Amino acid sequence: MTTTLLTGISELWTFDPALEEPGERGAADGQVLHDAAVVIDGDRIAWTGPAAQAPDADERHDLGGRAVLPGWVDSHSHLVFAGDRSAEFEARMAGESYAAGGIQVTTDATRAASDEALRALVLARIAEARRGGTTCLETKTGYGLTLEQEKRAAQLLADLVAEGELDEATYLGAHLVPAEFDGRDGRPGADAYVDLAAGDMLQAVLPFVRWADVFCENGAFDVAQSRRVLEAAREAGLGLRVHGHQIERSGGVTVACDLQAASVDHLNAMTGEDIEALAATAQRPVVPTGDGLLDAQHGPTVATVLPACDLSTRAPLAPARELLDAGAHLAIASNCNPGTSYTSSMTFCVGTAVLQMRLSLAEAIRAATRGGALALRRSDVGHLGVGARADLHVLDAPAAIHLAYRPGMPLTHRVLRAGTAV
Ligand code: NIG
Repeated sequence: MTTTLLTGISELWTFDPALEEPGERGAADGQVLHDAAVVIDGDRIAWTGPAAQAPDADERHDLGGRAVLPGWVDSHSHLVFAGDRSAEFEARMAGESYAAGGIQVTTDATRAASDEALRALVLARIAEARRGGTTCLETKTGYGLTLEQEKRAAQLLADLVAEGELDEATYLGAHLVPAEFDGRDGRPGADAYVDLAAGDMLQAVLPFVRWADVFCENGAFDVAQSRRVLEAAREAGLGLRVHGHQIERSGGVTVACDLQAASVDHLNAMTGEDIEALAATAQRPVVPTGDGLLDAQHGPTVATVLPACDLSTRAPLAPARELLDAGAHLAIASNCNPGTSYTSSMTFCVGTAVLQMRLSLAEAIRAATRGGALALRRSDVGHLGVGARADLHVLDAPAAIHLAYRPGMPLTHRVLRAGTAV
């Protein structure tokens, strides 16, 4: 295996798990090194430390005084879609509110797309995310909403995971009750769709995904319906994720905490009680499974905030500061999708979290790396400790604070995923 020594690193944010105490939500002593070096052995981190003490390696690269972070871990995206919703966005900017029903527009376009077209669209979106420094990416089904279409999307995601293009695949059959189940003119109603999503549809996607998610929201699925789908998925062995409290205080936080979901995402309509409930799960131990993963069905429920979505829907920002202050685990994700957040830029999300959500730089970077990894129950990514996957984001800046100091600027110099240049 070829070893490579990277020098010329002004700041190296390792977030090395070996150096931190429980309860750390920023960067612990020793997790940010100055004038540092990294040795990569194949696809893994082999050594980090002061440049003056760096061991020799087969190859050497000088990064020219740049800051280096773990690659972003984006734990929430919806990349399997066709069609365009820019008119809906424009209407929103003119005063309309976001409603779950827009999902049907994307569902119609996605169903009409060929397998080849859909694959090409997803691959192009993954490439775009990679160029912005995202090296670990989750994405979901959820714009098919028939058994065949959800299976097609799940199979596409499983293929991309097997090909090393993608990291995590999620089943989101319970994204919206599709039009053909609207209960009118003798057509089946929402409960019949929930039967399908928790029954045959779930069984059809099971071989292809590690996660199940539901949109627990007014206009999508209520608490009882969400619980049915999630309980069936848990029973079938999947890890759980929840879209909750995006538009209203839907009850998604309670369901997620009760069922040991790995993550509950959005969190715009929150009370102190909801924040405390999430913080109370932070003490739940994680269970390593020995392959760089953690058991998907146990551990804390990570509070995942989606700053780009909050801006794009003009929603009140999720209370990231309050969640951290209460002791909850926090992740930042892009929620890239055509309806509420058409960006995969984690750099933009992190800058926004510092500028608008009042997080420190260390808290925001951590939430977009270690936090995302915990939300995906992975120990191999989100940090640059020895043995981690060699996922590096080299900034075109001497210090990571430029992420917030220079918003909107192209700050990605180079990205390595599993030791290979993207
Ligand atoms: O996470 N909220 C539900 N799902 C997506 C939006 C889907 C859409 O409007 O197409 C989200 O924001």
